[in-house]
Amino acid sequence: MPERRPYIAGNWKMYKTASQASSFVGALLSELDQSSSAEVGLCVPFTALAAAVEAARGTDVRIAAQNMHQATEGPYTGEVSAPMLAELGAEGVVLGHSERRQYNCETDEALAEKVPAALASGLEPILCVGESEAERHANQTESRLRTQVHTALCAVESARVAELVIAYEPVWAIGTGNVATPDIAQEAICHIRALVAELFGAGADAVRILYGGSVKPETAGEICAQPDIDGALVGGASLDPEVFAAIVRAA
Ligand code: PGA
Repeated sequence: MPERRPYIAGNWKMYKTASQASSFVGALLSELDQSSSAEVGLCVPFTALAAAVEAARGTDVRIAAQNMHQATEGPYTGEVSAPMLAELGAEGVVLGHSERRQYNCETDEALAEKVPAALASGLEPILCVGESEAERHANQTESRLRTQVHTALCAVESARVAELVIAYEPVWAIGTGNVATPDIAQEAICHIRALVAELFGAGADAVRILYGGSVKPETAGEICAQPDIDGALVGGASLDPEVFAAIVRAA
């Protein structure tokens, strides 16, 4: 089975200006243990990308965006494309975050185009999937994940599957303090890996699948120790460099 390097990514959402991003990266680097086996990423607002890339240059910290349009260019006012992000030095992009699904009309069908478009520009897609509280209570978690995973990945070439990152982020756990138990997270992520295997066979073993939703330094270790969980996508707790570094150490 391929070795999957643990990945801890911070999702800043709509927090931090460019200058705040620079200071954060400096502070984070002084906190991080350079011998850490985990890869560290920061998913930052568009306006902070250039500053974050500059501050992280020459280090192992990877900078990613939080969304992109599926087209390379075109009459889409207010949108940003994968080549634009890649030229700025972004190495990845969050796609399908539940907040974008909820507030910005993100659809599985658009994601089916966005994931290959990101890969085509050399960006690592971090595809977010996860069920709502109502879906979990109605026993629809597995079917919801099936639709999300199979639709978003339907046009990915099998040669590129190892470059995918998926984040399982149950909506009920995001920003609520209500972290999933390690068992619930492991069960869902094991299911997601099986769904990826339905599409790509053994290639699914190379895909890193993260957990996201109210991860804190106290909970990160046990979650990341689960056999199918390859790291965490961290929202609120990624805004403070000391707290975020503590999560990287715990994982
Ligand atoms: P949270 O957010 O850690 O604040 O719950 C996670 C996310 O939205 O990626």
